[in-house]
Amino acid sequence: GPSLAYEHADAETLDELRDDAQSCQRCDLYRNATHLVFGEGPRTAEIVLVGEQPGDKEDQAARPFVGPAGRLLDQCLDEAGVDRDRCYVTNAVKHFKYQMRGKKRLHARPNAGEIQRCAWWLGAELELLQPKLVVALGATAVSSLLGTKVKVMRDRGHILHSSAKLDVLVTIHPSALLRIREADERERNRAAFIQDLKKVTRFL
Ligand code: URA
Repeated sequence: GPSLAYEHADAETLDELRDDAQSCQRCDLYRNATHLVFGEGPRTAEIVLVGEQPGDKEDQAARPFVGPAGRLLDQCLDEAGVDRDRCYVTNAVKHFKYQMRGKKRLHARPNAGEIQRCAWWLGAELELLQPKLVVALGATAVSSLLGTKVKVMRDRGHILHSSAKLDVLVTIHPSALLRIREADERERNRAAFIQDLKKVTRFL
């Protein structure tokens, strides 16, 4: 299972932690990424949003959720009445993992070992932030925060208690919406995602 607080970071602030993360070699993903993408947002944030890993755009900008998935996340947060600027936004894995296809860098899923090694950084962020609610966006974040027994499609919309004693809202990843081709199905899932995100407003 996930063990986020088994070992403590030396960093006493998020800025220190971010600096420490820059030289991370806990797994091999640092080798091919352009930037480490750390979390960002107010250190007083009561809500932490956790995605999977930076995408192509995030890797270049060194900022989380600034590409297509980020734009969709922003729209859905807005419709749910959640101000992104009041949230701390981060990822379960902090380097972009990809495969080359021609000249394109195509997203590749982080494996269990990569998720587990990077959970150390996520755990340290959460320990410093002490949020009221963590929102796990998709299977990678869910696995990092709650372990592999929790299933996104079965448990979405529920707030579960993590072993690190955090309340974690399970929901889908906005990229999953981008992959649905059928318009009605996409709209249904988008509406359900917004319903899930509305639960965040109770914690604001
Ligand atoms: N997808 C994620 O999970 N995180 C990002 O930062 C961008 C896309």
